Formats: sequence, structure tokens, C-alpha cells
Amino acid sequence: MKITAAITGVGAYVPEYVLTNAELEKSVDTTDEWIVTRTGIRERRILKGDNQGTSVMGIKAVQQLLAKTNTRPEDIDLVICATTTPDLVFPATANIISAAVGITNAFSYDLQAACSGFLFALATGAQFIQSGLYKKVIVVGADKMSAIVDYTDRANCIIFGDGAGAVLLEPNTEGYGLLDHVLRTDGKGEQYLYQKAGGSRRPPSAETVANREHFLYQEGATVFKFAVTNMADVAAQVMERNHLSKEDVAWLVPHQANKRIIDATANRMGVGSEKVMLNIDRYGNTTNATIPLCLSDYEPQLKKGDNLILAAFGGGFTWGAIYLKWAY
Ligand code: UT7
Repeated sequence: MKITAAITGVGAYVPEYVLTNAELEKSVDTTDEWIVTRTGIRERRILKGDNQGTSVMGIKAVQQLLAKTNTRPEDIDLVICATTTPDLVFPATANIISAAVGITNAFSYDLQAACSGFLFALATGAQFIQSGLYKKVIVVGADKMSAIVDYTDRANCIIFGDGAGAVLLEPNTEGYGLLDHVLRTDGKGEQYLYQKAGGSRRPPSAETVANREHFLYQEGATVFKFAVTNMADVAAQVMERNHLSKEDVAWLVPHQANKRIIDATANRMGVGSEKVMLNIDRYGNTTNATIPLCLSDYEPQLKKGDNLILAAFGGGFTWGAIYLKWAY
């Protein structure tokens, strides 16, 4: 009997502080109207306070997930945390989350694929279930983008926000769960979306700080072009090779980077806007957290057997689409 990896629960957390377009209008030369029409974003959440890293949000999302699914932390086999803003360069944020929630019989690690990280981590976690090796895998997507956003850069500070989401993967033998994926990387995209310093190539120094090289750097218009084409391509490809018509797709779950990219992907798939999960207006681009935050928001509307297409594009470049059948 074929084992598939089914999502059997979702947890999520966003910090309390709401950063509105009106507040951004006070610090950079922008308008609510520009931000809404160019991106679809109205507000985003920001994690405030000293010594508060990405794990703070990941812990809350995983605690909610364990409570909702009635799962004992000791029963978890593996935790993968997709993040681009880990608490520390090392050790992994997944380890910090696991220790805090009492996951003591597992191994854990972080996965870096920028905005596509949650999809890459979901596909990775699924392999451990499909192989029959493990029974309970948690995949977390979490980012504190406010830690690397330059709040004097008007093109980028308006986009990003903080948040976390987590899903539980368990074996299924009735055909539910992850059924296919197309994942891609093109390292030539590095120069258009990256953090210039802080890694081993350019370790932190007084100079890198003075040059503002520890902030996210993005050539937005170039990234936009690649995102529109590639995200739509893989979403369409995954539909075609699984013989899914637009009617067969119950939901498109797109990475929330820009409403215009989401619309282009939906159009290419022929999927109407009523089938597109959308919360970019409230959270902005939370990088690895966008897709699990969507799943959490829309969980009450999901039905067993719904066909979902998850799609993302991000720095690296990285992109991909996953086809899954909702299991509850
Ligand atoms: O999630 C990971 C992948 N990332 C993405 O998918 C993001 C993709 N990129 C984008 O979403 C868009 O490129 C941005 C939202 C970042 C920027 O929007 P855009 O429509 O591509 O703007 P642009 O950078 O081409 O700039 C157009 C104009 C420029 O003015 P001039 O040179 O034409 O006079 C900018 O200076 O818009 C100006 N501009 C702004 N004006 C008001 C840029 N940001 C702002 C702003 N408010 N916040």
C-alpha cells in the first residue's frame, strides 16, 4: 500500500504589533494608495522587543499545532524549520523551537530556500513519511523579516512582515496528502535578492554595518518579472501532469509576495479569485510563513478531498509548486 504524507493539522502565530501603511507614510516617501495598488498590502505584523527571534513565533505556532492535533511533543520524529531569518547563524532555529516545546525524541534542522522554503521543507519532510521511516514530522515556516528590512528603503520596507506557521505530516494510505511537486533553483538569481553581508563571504564589520549591507537587498522589478513567469509555469505544470482541470482545483495557495504576482498565477491556471487564498492585505510578505498562514486562515473552509496547489517564488532564485489532497 502506497504511503503518502498528509497534513493533519495547522498552527500559526503572528505578533500583535500592526504596522499600517499610514505609519509607513510617516517614515518613508510613500502613500497608502501606492502600496495597495502596487502590492495589495494594507498592514503587516512586527515582532517587537529585545532578544525576540524567529523562534519566538515558531514556538507559538508549534504549541498551537500540538494542542489542536492532540499530539504529545515526545511523539514527534522530526522538525524542519524553513527560515531565512534564523535566531542565530547556528545552531538551527528548529532546535530552539523543539527544545522549548518539549520535542525530545526527534532530530531537527533548518532549511534555507528564501520565500520557497516552506514548499521545499514540506516536500523534504514528506519524503521521511513516504519512506515509512517516520510517523510524525513537523514543518515550520517562520520569519522575522523586520530584523533584516531597511526601513529607509521605500520599495522594500512596505512589503515584508513577521509571522510563523506550522503543519503536522502523518502517513496516509487512502490517497490524501502530498501527491506531486515541482521544485526549482537558479543560483544566477542571487544578485537580485540577497543579504550582502553577515555570512562567511563578508563577515560583519564596522564597514558592512555602515554600508547597510546587513539588510535585505532586492531589485524588485526584476524579481517581479521572474516571479510572475516561474510561479505560474510550475503551477500550470503540476496541474497538467496530474490531469487537473481548473474545475478540479479547489484552492490555489500562493506565496504572498505581491497581489499582482498572485493574480497572474491564478489567471494562468484559469482559477477564479474565489479559489485563491489571500491574506497579503493583513500580513504582507512573511517569506517562509505565508503559505502556512494561509492554510491556517482558510482551514475552516477546507474540505476533505480538496485539491490544493501550493506555489511560491523567492530569492535564490527558488520556486516551486506542490499538489496535495486535503486530508480532513
Ligand atoms: O517574496 C520574494 C520575492 N519577492 C517578490 O516577489 C517581490 C517582487 N517585486 C515587487 O513586488 C515589486 O517590484 C515592488 C513592490 C518591490 C516594487 O514595485 P514596482 O512596481 O516593481 O516598482 P519599481 O521598483 O519598478 O519602482 C517604480 C517606481 C519608482 O519610481 P520612478 O523611478 O519610476 O520615479 C520607485 O521609486 O515606484 C517608486 N516606488 C515607490 N513609490 C511610492 C518604489 N517604492 C515606492 C513606494 N511608494 N513604497
